[in-house]
Amino acid sequence: MAFCKKDLKDKSSCLCINTTKTDVAKSYERISDFYAGKSVFITGATGFLGKVLIERLLSTCTDIGSIYVLIRSKGGMNLEQRLQKITDASLFDKLKSLKPDTIKKIIPIEGDLSKPGLDISISDEQRLIDNVSI
Ligand SMILES: NC(=O)c1ccc[n+]([C@@H]2O[C@H](COP(=O)([O-])OP(=O)(O)OC[C@H]3O[C@@H](n4cnc5c(N)ncnc54)[C@H](OP(=O)(O)O)[C@@H]3O)[C@@H](O)[C@H]2O)c1
Repeated sequence: MAFCKKDLKDKSSCLCINTTKTDVAKSYERISDFYAGKSVFITGATGFLGKVLIERLLSTCTDIGSIYVLIRSKGGMNLEQRLQKITDASLFDKLKSLKPDTIKKIIPIEGDLSKPGLDISISDEQRLIDNVSI
């Protein structure tokens, strides 16, 4: 569910968590240490596993950067409405009450996995290349 920066270049739908040589050599005591200061890009955010992954990352990895999520327009709902629907799920109630600003770390990227180049705009593609490491 996570795309690495290298894979965004050719936009293949590789499902992997990419690590640099430095990351591999470095040991992390906790998962949250690994994610500290890093931004991730995930697909399937509106689905069952995607929502759980986002909630867990935001709840447990407090120093994570942004979570970019690939979302397509669907069912007459635009990107923002679909993002709102994700965070309206009761799964996010505790997080929203304890750390309301954390939700702002979720950044929607319009796209479609079934289309060439994931149908991501050039500006969004550059944004991902510039910011995402996982
Ligand atoms: N749930 C499990 O227990 C489980 C266990 C093992 C493996 N898996 C695998 O893990 C993956 C996710 O499972 P899930 O239960 O979270 O599935 P899900 O609830 O059906 O969610 C699927 C997600 O993929 C997105 N998606 C599908 N086609 C897309 C496209 N063309 N462009 C952009 N997004 C697209 C959906 O977006 P829309 O909302 O736009 O449709 C949705 O966010 C699946 O491959 C599943 O086989 C799941």
